[in-house]
Amino acid sequence: MGETTEHRSGFHRQNIGTADVARLVAALDQQDAAAGVRRLRAWTHEVLAAGDGERALDVGCGTGSQTLRLADAVGPAGDALGVEPNPGLRAVAEERAAAAGSRARFTDGDALALPLPGASVDVVWCERVLQHVTEPDRAVAEMARVLRPGGRIALLDTDWATTILHPGEPAVMAAFTAAALASAANPHAGRELVGRLTRAGLVIDDRGAQALLQDHRSVPWPLVRMLGESAVRRGLLSREECDRAYAGLEEAAGRGALHMSVTMFAVVAHRPG
Ligand SMILES: C[S@@+](CC[C@H](N)C(=O)[O-])C[C@H]1O[C@@H](n2cnc3c(N)ncnc32)[C@H](O)[C@@H]1O
Repeated sequence: MGETTEHRSGFHRQNIGTADVARLVAALDQQDAAAGVRRLRAWTHEVLAAGDGERALDVGCGTGSQTLRLADAVGPAGDALGVEPNPGLRAVAEERAAAAGSRARFTDGDALALPLPGASVDVVWCERVLQHVTEPDRAVAEMARVLRPGGRIALLDTDWATTILHPGEPAVMAAFTAAALASAANPHAGRELVGRLTRAGLVIDDRGAQALLQDHRSVPWPLVRMLGESAVRRGLLSREECDRAYAGLEEAAGRGALHMSVTMFAVVAHRPG
């Protein structure tokens, strides 16, 4: 496995074809169920307010959960299109839409070159995609291009520097956070949303945030171990320090004292016109 792959998650476009789709679907389903994600999505949909008859676009839609929600919001007179480059995820989105009787549609495409004419959509949703994109400013410029004047956009993304794992030696826990930072193309995507939208000529309307909290019942141990192993490979932790950290976290989980969180941000903006 090369250095580039080590730095990029299974959601990065370059890893389509090698990433295990079932694992990606399981991760997205787990996030769909997380209370923090649900709260931030609810707030963002309320502010974005996709309405009857509008044309909605979900960029990097994954399994399409939010494309289906947008399809419900725009109704039969509207249109909700999910753009997703990973054929395995797109197939799951199509199956789920059919099973739900949704009118949501899906197509192949890249955030860097959206397969849509300019000024052709009323609302854009793009959640946790920019952290995986190599040229995020170009992606936001593309979303601004396809928005009609007056159209609205919601960007939601994680900021991996806000990762907290507790209890543990602060320096050891910082190594886990450093490993989280190294796994995304843009680990600070959350804090960069406002600047990117503004650079694309869009006007900020509102901003929200939610910490995604895990407790001793929901802690994603495979993720914790992936971060620990990555920290060891990078020479940030010795084997012994890492194993001691796992043992400390497991012991804390056993007595209901484990805290794990990361903060996700949402920004809603519009194209002036
Ligand atoms: C963490 S998932 C989020 C999926 C979905 N938006 C959600 O919130 O459930 C990231 C998604 O971005 C997609 N993606 C990665 N690079 C992309 C690109 N260049 N253009 C469009 N989508 C991309 C991935 O295939 C994946 O579906």
